[in-house]
Amino acid sequence: MSDAMVTLHTPRLLLDALRDEDAAALYHYRADPAVSCYQGWCPASLDETRRFIERCAAVAPDTPGSWFQRAIRRRDSGQLVGDLGLHFLAEAPATVELGISLAPAQQRQGLAAEALRATLGWIFEGLRKHRVIASVDPRNQPCMTLLAGIGMRREAHFVESLPAGAGWVDDVIFAMLEREWRLRHASERHRG
Ligand SMILES: CC(C)(COP(=O)(O)OP(=O)(O)OC[C@H]1O[C@@H](n2cnc3c(N)ncnc32)[C@H](O)[C@@H]1OP(=O)(O)O)[C@@H](O)C(=O)NCCC(=O)NCCS
Repeated sequence: MSDAMVTLHTPRLLLDALRDEDAAALYHYRADPAVSCYQGWCPASLDETRRFIERCAAVAPDTPGSWFQRAIRRRDSGQLVGDLGLHFLAEAPATVELGISLAPAQQRQGLAAEALRATLGWIFEGLRKHRVIASVDPRNQPCMTLLAGIGMRREAHFVESLPAGAGWVDDVIFAMLEREWRLRHASERHRG
């Protein structure tokens, strides 16, 4: 499947490939401590952000062991509002891990939930995967609320399992199975 085929539409958003022109906007919000504080990646410079976009362009979806990255844009203006990543786990090929970031000015408008719902549809219906997971620092309340809100189950809580600076942080795993998504999707359709 080519990267160009993976463009998702929602009522307000378009999810497609990150482009060179996105570098400044991407750097601006990804380097913001409010966005990066619970994340594994925080770009140190605009150049590093450009190299990140270049690397993303070389990754095809469903490549074992890779992160496949999508831009999240406003459908009306094309403005980059965030990005999301899909990690295709080499050791568990039927499982996909999700990660998402929204620029601070774009948060709390339901955009992350809208982007993730469309992405879950693509993962389960398009790619026919069995399970989706997300790994969250439990202090990241917005993300915990987001994942619970789209119907992911809080499945595990690992205590001080991840290194962070000189210490350790907890890791909460949220998950959703294909059959859970199908049930939820059917009831959402039923409610209209
Ligand atoms: C987590 C994040 C993506 C949420 O994005 P968002 O667009 O604001 O989320 P939404 O507007 O779709 O809101 C989804 C739910 O989370 C809740 N929420 C969002 N931000 C919140 C906040 N700051 N405090 C409390 N709840 C919050 C919303 O009220 C909504 O709840 P509901 O389903 O009960 O209505 C965003 O805060 C972010 O980019 N954070 C920094 C990056 C990060 O930590 N990413 C997570 C790594 S997996």
